[in-house]
Amino acid sequence: MSNAMWGGRFTASPDSIMEEINASIGFDQRLAAQDIAGSKAHAAMLAQRGIVSAEDAAAIQDGLDRIAGEIEAGTFTFSRALEDIHMNVESRLAELIGEAAGRLHTARSRNDQVALDFRLWVRDTLDAVDAALHDLQLALAEKALAHADAVMPGFTHLQSAQPVTLGHHLMAYVEMIGRDRGRFSDARRRMNESPLGAAALAGTSYPIDRHAVAAALGFDRPTANSLDSVSDRDFALEALSAAAICAVHLSRFAEEIVLWATPQFGFAALSDRFSTGSSIMPQKRNPDAAELVRGKAGRVIGDLVGLLVVMKGLPLAYSKDMQEDKEGTFDALDALALTVPAMAGMVRDMTPDLVRMKAAAGSGYSTATDLADWLVQKLDMPFRQAHHVTGRIVALAAARGATLEQLPLAALQGIEPRITATVFDVLGADRSVASRTSFGGTAPDNVRAQATAWLERLKG
Ligand code: ARG
Repeated sequence: MSNAMWGGRFTASPDSIMEEINASIGFDQRLAAQDIAGSKAHAAMLAQRGIVSAEDAAAIQDGLDRIAGEIEAGTFTFSRALEDIHMNVESRLAELIGEAAGRLHTARSRNDQVALDFRLWVRDTLDAVDAALHDLQLALAEKALAHADAVMPGFTHLQSAQPVTLGHHLMAYVEMIGRDRGRFSDARRRMNESPLGAAALAGTSYPIDRHAVAAALGFDRPTANSLDSVSDRDFALEALSAAAICAVHLSRFAEEIVLWATPQFGFAALSDRFSTGSSIMPQKRNPDAAELVRGKAGRVIGDLVGLLVVMKGLPLAYSKDMQEDKEGTFDALDALALTVPAMAGMVRDMTPDLVRMKAAAGSGYSTATDLADWLVQKLDMPFRQAHHVTGRIVALAAARGATLEQLPLAALQGIEPRITATVFDVLGADRSVASRTSFGGTAPDNVRAQATAWLERLKG
């Protein structure tokens, strides 16, 4: 039997491998709710414009509602022979309401239908991602406020650089995620146009009302060019780009959690709820959730690159290559749906070891810059010379196995005789962070103000 939906000019049915390569129902059944919503809006418009009768439209609406119920209840049978979600739904509609079902596809093609369904799905999912990111920001900002003055080492090259506070470090991620949310919301705003009514590629001769359909589905307006409407997937690419950048942010933080949780760093303990054991080494507490957040970033980046490559050589308008747009997009946004709440959970449950962080902040001569600044401010030394003098003091401390604070005054004066005991005021990590009061700096008062301002925004 040839295909019931398009088989008019065919005598033979597809080869089984043809059916297998062609079918998308295995994954695009995730678009069922969007497909039905789009069809309902389309049918209502067709009746409104007198293109189908009110009775047929009512039967279609009723049938589509029943199908939605069947899918939700898990009683709907998806058929591979019917290729995709669109034809599965339409075929079931025909079983339920008979001939009127055949009128639903008037003034529409699967090309604009799938463009619509996929847009609706991405739009709905971006809203869910945004809510999850909002919650992660809350978790971070709350933790940051609680630890606004907890001193820890700040790193460059993963070498101790200057002391910072844990709160400041966490707030860095609040900023990054704020920009991620901005990118998602930009993408959402740009994609919020309805492609339905572009039909196969050229538009339609029926007197449809694309504006009404767009409004019914929560779009700002219909898309302006029918060829563009059915052939572009930049809405998915933008979502994937934002997802990839966001996943990279999460991955960097995940990597830090992995480091912090090692006995060697010992900066933070993850809760049992976010750790796993080893089947052979009884002592192990592994940060698997953080590692998976880090690992999934690779997939999300791959999903973006995959779709870019699918699209790059396609002539206008629709080509079946574009059916490859969905799985990667689902995969990437599914990954975020797991990783973002996992990060929020880890942040909320994490117990920082403030004593170890502080001890580490004081090691590695992390206040050397403070010493150089003291020489500039108190002795009016040019910074370059102060840098050099400090370097000699650091070398002396290293030779003695001492921290800068532990060097006796006489030893400091042996290198620069004008140094006085007040220098010790700036050599402690606490003093160092307290002095970083420039806008955006790590001083605890700054961090508290930033965290408080974010929390107000997030809760407001
Ligand atoms: N399953 C198809 C897809 O995902 C729907 C559009 C099919 N259009 C067509 N002309 N064959 O892209």
